[in-house]
Amino acid sequence: MKALITAGGRATRLRPITYTTNKHLIPIANKPMLFYALEKIAETGIKEVGININPGEKEIQPAVGDGSRWGLKISYIEQTGGPKGLAHIVRNAKDFLGDEPFIFYLGDNIILGSIKRFVDKFVNENLNVLLAFARVPDPERFGVPVISNGKVLRVEEKPNQPKSNFAQTGIYIYDHRIFDAVENIPPSPRGEYEISDANTYLIEKGFNVGYEEITGWWKDTGKPEDLLEGNQLILHDLSDIKNEANVAPGVIIQGKVKIEKGTYVGGRSLIRGPVVIGKNCMINDSYIGPYTSIGDNTKITNTEIEHSIIFDNAEIKCGKRIVDSLIGHNAVIASSADSLPLGHKMIIGDNSVVEL
Ligand code: G1P
Repeated sequence: MKALITAGGRATRLRPITYTTNKHLIPIANKPMLFYALEKIAETGIKEVGININPGEKEIQPAVGDGSRWGLKISYIEQTGGPKGLAHIVRNAKDFLGDEPFIFYLGDNIILGSIKRFVDKFVNENLNVLLAFARVPDPERFGVPVISNGKVLRVEEKPNQPKSNFAQTGIYIYDHRIFDAVENIPPSPRGEYEISDANTYLIEKGFNVGYEEITGWWKDTGKPEDLLEGNQLILHDLSDIKNEANVAPGVIIQGKVKIEKGTYVGGRSLIRGPVVIGKNCMINDSYIGPYTSIGDNTKITNTEIEHSIIFDNAEIKCGKRIVDSLIGHNAVIASSADSLPLGHKMIIGDNSVVEL
């Protein structure tokens, strides 16, 4: 079995972060989101992975490399003629996939738990397709299966009136019959070749389409609040809690806190986990609260931060309390009292969101 992982697209709902960072490299608990997908694939024993990228993509390859760090062999597949939907991505990867069955894994989906049981079910039950579903409160945002007597009758893409509480997640297993589907379905009203239509096509042709429910946690990280929730869930399960920081006397560290080498924590600081802090940071007179991830080379002084993701090289010294925030590379948040006249002084890039 091979795997095809998506890492392209435009991620407009995550601007301005995604003007400069490919969404799939956004850090979740200080690790690029895409690495979680690669880990899940490696756990199944699959070795050959294709990663779908935008034409001219320059960030993903240096970050991910050849895959040897996960015991994988990675090929990069440019999505020529797109973006035109998930079924188009599968079609575009036909030469790489050949006749072998494969896992199609959307690189912006985060799940807890192994996907090995999906592979086992696909093999043991001789399926042509295995779909992974999750119960959600808002199925209209997703592909929604119509299920009767344990059988999937069809999958409807973002229906106004969903016929079940399930979302089709971003984990699919296919055999080569999928190519018949992706070559024959018409584009949808939104102009995309929908994976839901490809699945419905295969069901209607009588192929063996099974499903499995993801009962643990699953998230499609389309919006900033999804990223923060993903970060929260991964930090909640933090097991590697080595603290390699230089911690001054008087600093209080509570709960699960991982801090990497070269970081200094001083002054009247309190760090209340779960929290991860990268290399070579300086934290002084600050409160770092639960569910916060702080990247490398970041300076935080006289500030309170909770439930937030701070990227590398940021500097925060504002004397305020920051919550539920995404703060990008090299961003500076300073105190308006440091220079006259008093008042909020901002240099904010296109599509930024600030709540004062
Ligand atoms: C895509 C699929 C949808 C699926 C979702 C899972 O939606 O079209 O069927 O439920 O991924 O993440 P999109 O993210 O393109 O809106």
